[in-house]
Amino acid sequence: MNYHYQIKKATELSGEEIKTILSHWAVEEWREIEPDVFIAKFRGSEFHVLYSEQGELLSVARMNFEFKIIFNDLPYSFAELVGLVSIVKEKGFARYLLKEIQQDFYFRNIPAIGFCSFDLREFYRKCGIESMPGKAKMLLEKSDHGFIVSEDDDILLINISGEYRKLLNGLSFDKPGYLDLTPK
Ligand SMILES: CC(C)(COP(=O)(O)OP(=O)(O)OC[C@H]1O[C@@H](n2cnc3c(N)ncnc32)[C@H](O)[C@@H]1OP(=O)(O)O)[C@@H](O)C(=O)NCCC(=O)NCCS
Repeated sequence: MNYHYQIKKATELSGEEIKTILSHWAVEEWREIEPDVFIAKFRGSEFHVLYSEQGELLSVARMNFEFKIIFNDLPYSFAELVGLVSIVKEKGFARYLLKEIQQDFYFRNIPAIGFCSFDLREFYRKCGIESMPGKAKMLLEKSDHGFIVSEDDDILLINISGEYRKLLNGLSFDKPGYLDLTPK
């Protein structure tokens, strides 16, 4: 079977594809949003999609480009892997898609990370994604009530080298990083 890997802006997804993606993401309040709201909300993202030969959507991930981590008061931009979901499960589609994403970010030379909770550690290991176990807890997110610790456990290294690897490696509970989630 041949698969097609494509990178699309939100504007390039069909209404039907947007519906399928929303129905598979676990975010209840996004379930019913209209395509124009979806497009506005994710204008800073790319959608990496795996299609079957017949054009059926098999697996999809959103790469968020509005993501920064502040280390030592300086912001560093990363692409963030979020919303990875396989429409057809247990057929190796997520693994295939992740490999394509890794290659794409490697060739474009864009630092890219993701996050996962402990229960998905084994899945990412099986997909050959290197991780930094426990390091997601060393990233703090600003909220109205102070700083909150991420629900995730691990940082996934989708495409990381050099200075960026050093920065992530240097995270600790004494020297956390701060998430800057404000869209620019
Ligand atoms: C997690 C998810 C993306 C996996 O997609 P998938 O296409 O079924 O995964 P694959 O078929 O490519 O699996 C690759 C390997 O991981 C294993 N695997 C799949 N899901 C797993 C899980 N939840 N835990 C552990 N291993 C898992 C597969 O058995 C396969 O193993 P193998 O190498 O021994 O054959 C899919 O279950 C899903 O969409 N879940 C809901 C959304 C979600 O949790 N996304 C991840 C957010 S961090």
